[in-house]
Amino acid sequence: MHEIAILGTGYVGLVTGACFAELGNSVICIDIDVERIDGLRRGEIPFYEPGLEELVHRNVASDRLFFTTDYSEGLINKDFIFLCLPTPPSSNGAADVTILRAAVARIAEVIQSSDVLVVNKSTAPVGTCQSLQRLISTVNPRLAGVQVLSNPEFLREGSAISDFMSPDRIVIGAEDRYAAERLRQVYEPIDAPVLITDTKSAEMIKYASNAFLATKISFINEIADICEKVGADVSVVAEGMGLDKRIGKAFLRPGVGYGGSCFPKDVMALAHLGAIHGADPKLLKAVMDVNTHQFRRVLFKLREQLGYIEGRTIGVWGISYKPNTDDIRESPSVEIMRLLEQEGAEIKAYDPVAMPKASRRLPNVRMCRNVYEVAEGADAVLLLTEWTEFKSIDLKRVASIMRTPIIIDGRNVLDPLKAQEAGLHYVGVGRGK
Ligand code: UGA
Repeated sequence: MHEIAILGTGYVGLVTGACFAELGNSVICIDIDVERIDGLRRGEIPFYEPGLEELVHRNVASDRLFFTTDYSEGLINKDFIFLCLPTPPSSNGAADVTILRAAVARIAEVIQSSDVLVVNKSTAPVGTCQSLQRLISTVNPRLAGVQVLSNPEFLREGSAISDFMSPDRIVIGAEDRYAAERLRQVYEPIDAPVLITDTKSAEMIKYASNAFLATKISFINEIADICEKVGADVSVVAEGMGLDKRIGKAFLRPGVGYGGSCFPKDVMALAHLGAIHGADPKLLKAVMDVNTHQFRRVLFKLREQLGYIEGRTIGVWGISYKPNTDDIRESPSVEIMRLLEQEGAEIKAYDPVAMPKASRRLPNVRMCRNVYEVAEGADAVLLLTEWTEFKSIDLKRVASIMRTPIIIDGRNVLDPLKAQEAGLHYVGVGRGK
């Protein structure tokens, strides 16, 4: 059993804290947001993540998981302090480490012993761990021996708990072999390969992994575009490619582009990091360009069908950046709705869980109770997030209530033949002519 403090109760911090508690450790989660901590003490989870509520409740009830806003109380006598803090993009695209540095400076003021290991899970520029270690000894020279390790997270929203408990790999970056071994012990109950390396390489592994996955998505989106032009079917093309073990079938689903709080920010930050060090990250720039173009392509398709967009009523099914989350940060759906608003469309939308967050961000969009209310009187409907419930929509009913029965399926969720049989004019992604 280890004494663990987690700084930050965002989705990485809270999932990490609850999972470490589940593994038998004593965990205290610290956040400066009083409202959030009060809510967590009452058992309220601040975002939607399948399974997290039960996990938090169970470990709170077993006295293994605690919450506080008080750094002094939370950081005292800990074996490990995990940093799970935001590193948002700054205006030039670089990851902003201000919050991370402020938290580490505070740690250096509060902790008494150099025995504690500070472990960074936040995605931060290469060299951050080393610079945080220098910061600690500047703030408190008695703590010059404190080690700052990198331990990037690879959690996907929507499946974060199983990703934590059964990861493909655990990456530990440390300048000190003994510190790395100590951190490895925390992960002992988890059956996964552990890669121990230096802090800079560990930090780079996180960026390179996300950038590679984003590259796969932009690649298949570009292939889908060509498939549409030449009359091929991208789903079969992706399947055929994926059977090659060197390529793999994951992340070859074409769509309306990648979104979320990670890929857009991380690809941009990596491109910036490369550029300031004299590299010329052409491929990363192309990955970002293809992604932005992908949002616009939905409007091209719409204009192709309707002639013009101004004054048209457009329905949107799906607002979150992917299913099983209420996260709308950098969501392609939100970006597409913004473009539609600029062109003067009237927008109606529905999402199974993201509407409360979305209505604050998109005050002019009419939020509907279900997919049918969205379709009623619409000139076209765009399917922008692949929620499972969209697979069982009654398409005949949809066709009968739309003003013009046009469906642009941005995620290839619907069966084109069934849609056509139901009386809809169907347009998918990369599904030939
Ligand atoms: C991503 C990574 O997958 C995690 O490994 C990483 O830990 C996390 O970022 C992070 O850096 O914190 P996440 O943003 O939760 O996780 O979402 P993904 O499931 O990876 O999806 C990202 C975007 O790519 C979504 O918009 C999704 O719709 C899109 N996508 C994904 C596609 O368009 N096609 C695909 O084939 C796969």
